[in-house]
Amino acid sequence: MVINDPVNESIHPDDAMYRVMKGHGNERGYIPSGRNNTLVFRELVGKIRPSLLTGKRLLDFGCGHGRMTRHMKTVFSLSHLVAADVLETGVEFCAREFGASPFSISKDNPISNCDSTFDLIIAVSVFTHLPRQLFESSMAGLSKILDKEGLLLFTANGEDFQRRHNERGHNVTLEGGFYFGNLTQRRKESKASVLPLDEYGQTCVSYDFVKALLERVDLKIVEFVPHGHVRSQDIYVATH
Ligand SMILES: C[S@@+](CC[C@H](N)C(=O)[O-])C[C@H]1O[C@@H](n2cnc3c(N)ncnc32)[C@H](O)[C@@H]1O
Repeated sequence: MVINDPVNESIHPDDAMYRVMKGHGNERGYIPSGRNNTLVFRELVGKIRPSLLTGKRLLDFGCGHGRMTRHMKTVFSLSHLVAADVLETGVEFCAREFGASPFSISKDNPISNCDSTFDLIIAVSVFTHLPRQLFESSMAGLSKILDKEGLLLFTANGEDFQRRHNERGHNVTLEGGFYFGNLTQRRKESKASVLPLDEYGQTCVSYDFVKALLERVDLKIVEFVPHGHVRSQDIYVATH
């Protein structure tokens, strides 16, 4: 499918995703990467539940400064787009620039307090960073606001992440299918996040851990794409 609609290419000065890509000499890849990643998720939705491709409500959970958010309205022909993050500046920017409704997440305002439900929830490179309690409570919250016929699509680090990091001499050992840690200093140096290290690090999970967690929160996996996101993160698609 070809989508030629022009996209708003504004970049927020605090955009960590942009900063990381720029650090790799790839700032020109920022806009195309957001678009290509969004198209990958569209293709999955089209394959699993094509009726969700037009006129639906989508939540971009962990929107950041809108690397993907800016493409979502046109790629999914949405009736409503909500951008949620713990990062106030990200949520505000996505609302101002890309016409999303803002939803700020905080300890006092978890996503389960959201009074809307969604046909589609997309969380890219978010569960790759959360400690166990937040990982589990966020998944439970998202389950509550996912429509009965809706799809939750998210990425997680799995076997590929574990192998690559262990080859580099790190000790990524999963306990009960879960690992959370801070593997490198690079995150601090690149200022990839302003969040405290105990709330935002590097997370790796087994398929069995995710499957069991999803079952506990009334969800089941309908599609699993090993290293389907950026050739590294696993993509999970779940429904009630
Ligand atoms: C690596 S960025 C990914 C941003 C965007 N999804 C993308 O792919 O460009 C991870 C995002 O998750 C957000 N985040 C961190 N903790 C979160 C939480 N508890 N709930 C929701 N989002 C969170 C961060 O603020 C950050 O914007």
